[in-house]
Amino acid sequence: MPDNHPHVIAALLLDWYDSHARVLPWRAPPGAARADPYAVWLSEVMLQQTQVPTVRPYFEKFLARWPSFAALAAADEAELMAAWAGLGYYARARNLLACARAVAGEHGGRLPEDEAALRALPGIGGYTAAAVSAIAFGRRAVVVDSNVERVVARLFAISDPLPAAKPAIHAATDSITPDACAGDFAQAMMDLGSMICTARAPRCLACPLRERCRAAAEGAPEAYPVKARKPEKPRRFGTFFWAERDGAVLLVRRPARGLLGGMRALPTGEWGAEPPGLAASPFAAEWRLLEPRVRHVFTHFRLEAALAAAPFAGHSVPPESEWWPIDDLGSAGLPTVFVRAVRMMEKQRCVQ
Ligand code: ADE
Ligand code: SF4
Repeated sequence: MPDNHPHVIAALLLDWYDSHARVLPWRAPPGAARADPYAVWLSEVMLQQTQVPTVRPYFEKFLARWPSFAALAAADEAELMAAWAGLGYYARARNLLACARAVAGEHGGRLPEDEAALRALPGIGGYTAAAVSAIAFGRRAVVVDSNVERVVARLFAISDPLPAAKPAIHAATDSITPDACAGDFAQAMMDLGSMICTARAPRCLACPLRERCRAAAEGAPEAYPVKARKPEKPRRFGTFFWAERDGAVLLVRRPARGLLGGMRALPTGEWGAEPPGLAASPFAAEWRLLEPRVRHVFTHFRLEAALAAAPFAGHSVPPESEWWPIDDLGSAGLPTVFVRAVRMMEKQRCVQ
């Protein structure tokens, strides 16, 4: 191979990966027989918007509870949503189930191997199709996640700001992706990005690609990737209602479609541009507004929610609600924003 051949980068990287690959539960070791496609798919869906350390215990729990497409296709949706609680972006969990059902029902329990067929499945976009095709089936595919994006922007000193630079980054990644070992190559790029070519203070002296890297040669690699300034997310306000009776708190199930759809939650009214105070209470009670507020950043807005608490005195409760023992709220499968509210209520109890 001539010294300036683009696959020199792949060769250097794969060599580094042989001795530095992270050991991850969904992964086959470098060069080994390929991992179970079900495990690869499950991990890639979980990793779409969530970091490796957070995903790891969820992945292990899911694989033990639902070890195959057939098992997951038969899962109870409410149980699955509760098991997903805390991972966020809950549409992924609904798509996970829809995808398992499609694979079990229409594909004989086996994932299709090529990117186009994978993309046709629920919850599988361009990135996940490429990652699964390469990692589970060894097909050549161009896999660009945010780690790869950063490494490639630096290797090629791509100075256009993101997201406009995405096509150029994809093309540059394509140019260095080898025909064989595409799965190892993709995961090696991810590992380089998470361990060496980090967002702040990349460790170029420990990098196998330093001699080939234009950003390192320029001397300020952390300047890449260049990012366009993001507009601030809009703020929304709401109130969460904590109604208590005999050591239990009232939980509702949120409507199946929409934000946090199908998840258990504290009752809340509409969220809007102004703090609604007690106007949205689910039933009349001696509500008391508490300090401080619960804050949470969703994909498209920031939420600031007041907490209102009251002993339950009424007769009727909202439909689809249940009294959940406060000591056992850990098993309710609440999304993170409501777990924050529960923690605040626990603190309130301590100071009362
Ligand atoms: N992020 C997304 N997919 C990954 C993988 N297979 N290994 C490590 N990090 C990842
Ligand atoms: Fe990243 Fe530095 Fe390696 Fe370039 S030399 S890929 S900037 S760690």
